[in-house]
Amino acid sequence: MELRSVEELMDLLYACRGSWDAPGLLRGRVDLHQHALQTAALLRRRRPADKELQVAGLVHAIGPLLRPGDAAAHPAGAADAVRGLLGERVARLVREHHRSGRPADDDLARLRQADEEARAPGVDAGVLEDWRTVLDLVAARNSRLGAVD
Ligand SMILES: [Fe+2]
Repeated sequence: MELRSVEELMDLLYACRGSWDAPGLLRGRVDLHQHALQTAALLRRRRPADKELQVAGLVHAIGPLLRPGDAAAHPAGAADAVRGLLGERVARLVREHHRSGRPADDDLARLRQADEEARAPGVDAGVLEDWRTVLDLVAARNSRLGAVD
């Protein structure tokens, strides 16, 4: 499944409310929606200029909604869904964030660290609406780049 608009992506992220279908999330007692917001917020604090990295953090956990039950396919499913909209770099970060072994680069290491930390109940990580303009920006930049080819 490929997402065609920021609106569709926002809908999917809202649908993550009350979904817990990922390893470790029950332990932290945050649902996928909260997990996504916390991951993105941590990356925004650490890499304020890197919107693509923040957005990768926001969307990395949509896999369980796209392919329920098939945990091994979650990262690839999420990557395929966002590639056309948000670009190859975001897709690659999402696809590789769960790979075992040493992260291939600093961005992956940062995403993975934020992913692990973003499971704390009671943290105020803002609301999804705060991310709409950032998603619009990354999508617009990606569609301009795509148009050059
Ligand atoms: Fe995660």
